[in-house]
Amino acid sequence: MNANAIQARLHSLFPTEADIPAECRILAPLHQRAILLNGEMQIWKGETRPVHSPVALRAADGSLTHVELGSFPVTGTAEADAAIAAAVAAYDNGRGQWPTMSVADRIACVENFTNQIVTRRREIVNLIMWEIGKSLADSEKEFDRTIDYIKATIAELKNLDNANSRFQIVDGTIAQIRRSPLGIVLCMGPYNYPMNETFTTLIPALIMGNVVLFKPPRFGVLLYYPMLEAFRSAFPAGAINIVYGQGSVVVPHIMSSGKVNVLALIGTSKVADQLKKAHPKTNRLRAVLGLEAKNAAIILPDADIELTVKECIAGSLSFNGQRCTAIKMILVHQAIADQFLRRFSEEIGKLKIGMPWEKGVTITPLPEMAKVSYMNECIDDAVAKGAKVLNENGGASVETLFYPAVVFPVKDGMKLYREEQFGPVIPVAPFEDIETALDYVISSDHGQQVSIFGTDPDQIAHLVDPLVNQVCRVNLNAQCQRSPDVFPFAGRKDSAEGTLSVHDALRSFSIRTMVAAKQTEASKKLLDSIVLGNKSNFVNTRFIL
Ligand code: G3H
Repeated sequence: MNANAIQARLHSLFPTEADIPAECRILAPLHQRAILLNGEMQIWKGETRPVHSPVALRAADGSLTHVELGSFPVTGTAEADAAIAAAVAAYDNGRGQWPTMSVADRIACVENFTNQIVTRRREIVNLIMWEIGKSLADSEKEFDRTIDYIKATIAELKNLDNANSRFQIVDGTIAQIRRSPLGIVLCMGPYNYPMNETFTTLIPALIMGNVVLFKPPRFGVLLYYPMLEAFRSAFPAGAINIVYGQGSVVVPHIMSSGKVNVLALIGTSKVADQLKKAHPKTNRLRAVLGLEAKNAAIILPDADIELTVKECIAGSLSFNGQRCTAIKMILVHQAIADQFLRRFSEEIGKLKIGMPWEKGVTITPLPEMAKVSYMNECIDDAVAKGAKVLNENGGASVETLFYPAVVFPVKDGMKLYREEQFGPVIPVAPFEDIETALDYVISSDHGQQVSIFGTDPDQIAHLVDPLVNQVCRVNLNAQCQRSPDVFPFAGRKDSAEGTLSVHDALRSFSIRTMVAAKQTEASKKLLDSIVLGNKSNFVNTRFIL
């Protein structure tokens, strides 16, 4: 397709008002004014920020206008201070209603919350789709996966708590060891999984008895509106408080208060670094971080081409490549490079590009124009330094619709070699000696995952052993991914701090605490009386069914 034809085609993919299916329409913009603070919905009268969708409407004259979705409060440091005060009061140095509540009762609150948001599924899914341009199918998947995650978290906590519902006697000491909350958790999720990734820290943090300050991501704020009442009614006042506003202003301000005990951030290492440093006592701060990644696919000469192409397409282009786990660099052995690149480009040509509600769509509008400019910048830089865009139409764009580009050969010194592009541009580099591919991973600042494609057990084993000490998941003949959520999700170097999984997250947001006594008759009598009298939520042998 020539340049004009692809431009015309991309332009025509933006819908007219009438093209939007009735069930997906935004009937009226959602102008959020309520702020959940200290268990109350406070009405905001100050500055607000408009929210526009990545999806634009095509008018009769061909002009494109981004759909107005609504607006939300831009609160400042005074409101951040009020949120901190509410959290401090709710935690009350560990004496508050929420941190001292029994595990069974906290589980009941989370179940109540979950039941309420399930009734708002359609609305929340629609907002995910419109706010970030994620396909309807993937937006539904994100919602359902989150609900499954919450249910799995509850089941895991029951197991954990039941296993701790007993005394241990060692060397004359009787002890009961449980997990206790850490205090105030500041939770910030990313725009690409605005609900799922946020909830994979927020729910474990809450359910372990911490109180939460939650700052919604830059894109994906309004989708929380239908959940506000559930947050308000399911949890005690102040257990969760929501902070809006300019992240670069309010978040460092919150950190500098010294009141945050855990920073749970899915974002960039640069921001994580700055925020940690803003805390006056870093020794009191625990960080649970999911950061940037540059996961590589290493394609060996004996790789099954069709399988490799399929996995690399899903790995590099699901949700337009906007996954932290996406394959962001392909290293292909030169013996197989031509064949791989031809088939890879052919399959990209078959991907459906269009609006998020369309069935089978893969490539959808990017969240902001700055993203389109950055994709172009990456391509221009590589082309100026000797690479080419190999696939037909690669890099063409109209407004926020960007046609995926395969860029080859990408070399050290080009932006695409090391920068996390987080979008639909796929850098490919050839290698002759496997050491070159290994060295790419070793010398990277990132260490999340890698995918190896090949069939020779000797060669794969030879690669696996050094790679498991560089990244936290080595995928064999499969794309990089986080799921299943019960598996550990971690990273080395600038890619993460701490491990998240259903099981690990409960540990990340709590600390082992014990009550101990000498093994004497007096201690036994005392402990018996506490347990039999059901006097403590910590010292007890109750079993949660
Ligand atoms: O952006 C990071 C997500 O957690 C990725 O999850 O690999 O299962 O799609 P996924």
